[in-house]
Amino acid sequence: MKGIILAGGKGTRLYPSTKVISKQLLPVFDKPMIYYPIATLMLGGIREIIIISTPDDIVFYQELLGNGSQWGLSFSYVIQEKPLGIAQAFVLTREFFSNEKVCLILGDNIFYGKLDFFRNAIKNLKFATIFAYEVENPQDYGVVVLDKDKKPIEIVEKPKSFISKYAIPGLYLFDERVFDFALTLKPSARGELEITDIQKIYLQLNELNIEIIGRGIAWLDTGNPTNLIDAALFIRAIEQRQGRKIACLEEIALTLGYINRKEFVAWVEKMPNSDYKKYCLKILGELDG
Ligand code: G1P
Repeated sequence: MKGIILAGGKGTRLYPSTKVISKQLLPVFDKPMIYYPIATLMLGGIREIIIISTPDDIVFYQELLGNGSQWGLSFSYVIQEKPLGIAQAFVLTREFFSNEKVCLILGDNIFYGKLDFFRNAIKNLKFATIFAYEVENPQDYGVVVLDKDKKPIEIVEKPKSFISKYAIPGLYLFDERVFDFALTLKPSARGELEITDIQKIYLQLNELNIEIIGRGIAWLDTGNPTNLIDAALFIRAIEQRQGRKIACLEEIALTLGYINRKEFVAWVEKMPNSDYKKYCLKILGELDG
């Protein structure tokens, strides 16, 4: 399975911080925001990743992340000329997929905790799987209404009045048909190809699986200044308490065997002196006992 990270958009709710910098390059405590969704995909076993961003910003992602080989990954880059919606990701990346399933993650979605829910969903994927997460502010998200057996009955993008407490996080698994379904979508009232419209196609076919993510997992939003600092403080609190970094891509790559010790050392040696480098060296020290 290949992954797609969508790191487009204008990040207007973070203006002026996003006037010249793409939102998903902003730091969340000690690393760029996009490191977190990359870590999520890596932990799900997904190593071929297509990164989508704007014509202006794509070069910065290329500069930051390269071809991914330093983490045992393979990155491709695709430009989204205009912010025409999340579902456009499938139109733009069609040619990279031949009869393959796909995982799409939004570049501003952070997950923390044991990601078994994600690995199991990948393993058991049939048709489409999306997740549901209880939030206080469902009106800010795509929302799913569940019946008493926890089966989906309705999906609404940013409902004006309360219909369900379950928001749909920006992490989606689809079968190979999604690329054709995306071509049939019409822009919504706000002029975008909505990811919720893709979900509704699977729902109508009775082929949409919903997995509720329980309270053992943190799903953090970074859409506005308050959410962003809350996410950063959350990451800092856990990292400082444990002395363990969240989403250190080098550590994940080494631990999962995506790179070997030699490759790890060669890469870390090139880093400038920083806490991040110190942490990588600590990981190495532990490995060597
Ligand atoms: C988007 C999707 C929405 C989803 C959310 C998750 O909203 O349209 O369905 O729940 O991401 O982060 P946006 O962040 O573009 O407002």
